Amino acid sequence: MRILSVVGARPNFMKLAPVDRELARRRDVEHVIVHTGQHYDPEMSDLFFEELWIPAPDYHLGVGSGSHAQQTAAVMQRLEPILTELRPDLVLVYGDVNSTLAAALVASKLGRRVGHVEAGLRSGDWSMPEEINRVVTDRLSDLLLTPSRDAGDNLVAEGISVDRVHFVGNVMIDSLCWALPQAAKRDVASRYEVRGVGYAVVTLHRPANVDDPAVLRELLEALDQMGRTMTVLFPVHPRTRERVQTLGFRPDPRGDLRLLEPLGYLDMLGLVAASQLVITDSGGLQEETTFLGVPCVTVRPNTERPVTCTHGTNRLVAPRRDAMLGAVERAVARRSPARPLIERWDGHAAERIVRVLCDGELDGAASPPHPPRRARAMPQPLAAG
Ligand code: UD1
Repeated sequence: MRILSVVGARPNFMKLAPVDRELARRRDVEHVIVHTGQHYDPEMSDLFFEELWIPAPDYHLGVGSGSHAQQTAAVMQRLEPILTELRPDLVLVYGDVNSTLAAALVASKLGRRVGHVEAGLRSGDWSMPEEINRVVTDRLSDLLLTPSRDAGDNLVAEGISVDRVHFVGNVMIDSLCWALPQAAKRDVASRYEVRGVGYAVVTLHRPANVDDPAVLRELLEALDQMGRTMTVLFPVHPRTRERVQTLGFRPDPRGDLRLLEPLGYLDMLGLVAASQLVITDSGGLQEETTFLGVPCVTVRPNTERPVTCTHGTNRLVAPRRDAMLGAVERAVARRSPARPLIERWDGHAAERIVRVLCDGELDGAASPPHPPRRARAMPQPLAAG
């Protein structure tokens, strides 16, 4: 059986790693890895391959940055001949980035079976490119591998047959469990001189937060103010760095807000695990903080990962200074010694995925999603204006 995985952007890599390791145990499987090149800076890509022990990609499409249409089209054009030549039995796509959607489109039009790792997540927010990517990818996929029960419910409510939905659990947590001992050994907190000190970790890169200078300024001012009472470590995504430079923002030297280069997976995990709280707009960090029991303040009006709010440590906040400072205060006060337990966020999701892919089975009765309480129409983008 030939399985071909397509990845391209930073959050894809930690989802691929455990699946690749698990597939490598199967003698009857050839696993081909295609990197689209959507992310290309060494600290956004190569470092993740090294740290997560992912073998070098078999193909690199080198698409780079561009508008959504340019990026999606470039992946499609460069992937098509590879799929035509290799004719894989299954194409696996991960998450919700442009490379995910592009690969699902090409593969399904060539009649290849498509499996979507992290299927069924929905924010209901059509202004996010990721929501469009999720919905379309799921419609095109034959195997929908969901991280949580609500994800399966979303798919069934959209009319997708239960037979295609497999509740495998959260594969990001597999990577986290695998890497946590190594991350702890690196003692990254000492390197940043924050060992034993309450500090916050920040990541912000969503267009809604960083592309509007007024919103970005408000966020930076809130972080700067936080920096007067605690250390705030902010590894800055390249997209955000460009915008911060344009604003001419410099942290107040009397405080301790530190703008850092993007971090690798292990250093980031080590810092997050020992932090007092995280402020983010990333999807993965909402999940990782919930698993680790670290309070998380998510600067977004919605989340496609509601289980991190209903069962975990996550709270949503508007991108306003007062709202953020209030949320941070409450988050720190709320910290509980018990880690939340989420069903099938247990480090074994990739094993379940590979059982579905290779043996066509999962563990029986527990896997089907809840039947929807009420049928509802497929969500549609709001009409403009
Ligand atoms: C993409 C994903 C987003 C994910 C994020 C994680 C889409 C639509 N968005 O957003 O869901 O949360 O990755 O990081 O797929 N850049 C570099 N070096 C790189 C990569 C990007 O400098 O290695 C800069 C370029 O200026 C580029 C910009 O960042 O134009 C945005 O990159 P892009 O891949 O388009 O989207 P992200 O914001 O990274």
